[in-house]
Amino acid sequence: MKIRAAVLEEFGQPLGVQEVELAEPRGGEVLVRLVACGVCHTDLYTASGADPSGYAPAVLGHEGAGVVERVGPDVTSLREGDHVVTLFSPQCGECVHCVDPRTNLCMAIREQQNKGYLPDGSTRISRGGEEIRHFMGCSTFAEYTVMPEIALAKVNPEAPFEHVCLFACGLSTGLGAAINTAAVAPGSTCVVFGAGMVGLGAVAGCRLQGAERIVCVDLSPERLELARGQGATDVIVGGEGTVEAILEMTGGFGADYTFEATGNVAVMRQAVEAARMAWGLCTVAGVAGKGETLDIVPRLLITGRRVAGSSFGGVKGRDQVPVLVERALAGEIDVAPFISHRISLDEVNRGFELMEAQDGIRSVIEFN
Ligand SMILES: NC(=O)c1ccc[n+]([C@@H]2O[C@H](COP(=O)([O-])OP(=O)(O)OC[C@H]3O[C@@H](n4cnc5c(N)ncnc54)[C@H](O)[C@@H]3O)[C@@H](O)[C@H]2O)c1
Ligand SMILES: [Zn+2]
Ligand SMILES: [Zn+2]
Repeated sequence: MKIRAAVLEEFGQPLGVQEVELAEPRGGEVLVRLVACGVCHTDLYTASGADPSGYAPAVLGHEGAGVVERVGPDVTSLREGDHVVTLFSPQCGECVHCVDPRTNLCMAIREQQNKGYLPDGSTRISRGGEEIRHFMGCSTFAEYTVMPEIALAKVNPEAPFEHVCLFACGLSTGLGAAINTAAVAPGSTCVVFGAGMVGLGAVAGCRLQGAERIVCVDLSPERLELARGQGATDVIVGGEGTVEAILEMTGGFGADYTFEATGNVAVMRQAVEAARMAWGLCTVAGVAGKGETLDIVPRLLITGRRVAGSSFGGVKGRDQVPVLVERALAGEIDVAPFISHRISLDEVNRGFELMEAQDGIRSVIEFN
């Protein structure tokens, strides 16, 4: 079928919204009609050419929500009409990692997905016989996409699409960092560095876990206001003296849990240093630039601080995204303030511009 999609043709150039060919789903695959899709930093990172593993031509986008239009052979868990969230982090349910509660890093389709192919090593998207690759296994800057069944989470159809699409990446990453990776204990003190989609999600996650004190650090006073709305009890404008400020607020000890959601390695270091001696846990969710390293004084570790990384918040997508969506429907997570702009697919490059200008938290593409 012919569909419209935003194609990354050349790194550093605007995406080209155009007609491309989408083939029918094969075994274990599903055709999804997109209804809403967030514009995320990872899309921009790849479009800019900064990502060394990027490939082109490719249809970008990975924060999608939509409706199952058709299922291919051997698909058993989804059917026409189901509402789904796209998962760049799939859950096959059978691999060595899927059967272990300690991780969400499914191994089933990793190799092909990293290269922009569906699990059988081919693409369903093309243009005049030329193959176009699937970004992060999703390619949701498109009216329709074909994805593996194991990379789609079925969610409650009562949830608005523009809300559920945010659970495809940033929001679940932040929530999960607090709920899964750190497993914040009730009554604790938490510090979240960064108040973008991921950091605000982490603030909300700390609140859901029953943290008593949640300090959010960001450079933008407007974003710090949003953090208050998600449950931050204290806010700090970030800078050189942030660690000292946090130590002062915590009787000289530091926080039980710290979270890093900026991608800046200097802030990661602050997050480690702001964690409490004896048991403080620093969870790193930000993605650093290529070749950058994190500096930690080893004594901080010997005296009991720990550092953990978190991919997609440790969320096992098919099982846990639907639960997070239910919690939003139940009023436990306030999703609306994250949506700052609603744009059309044709305006996708404007979504990138808004993000570069730090104008709002998320632009959401709405498909009609
Ligand atoms: N681990 C994962 O699975 C995963 C998933 C999605 C995104 N990410 C990464 O998480 C990070 C955050 O993503 P986002 O969408 O929230 O980005 P964002 O750019 O919207 O938010 C980052 C925030 O950090 C703040 N910041 C910058 N420098 C700071 C400093 N010195 N002190 C305090 N705050 C500072 C900015 O003001 C901004 O509000 C990015 O690195 C992104 O690549 C990781
Ligand atoms: Zn993303
Ligand atoms: Zn798996």
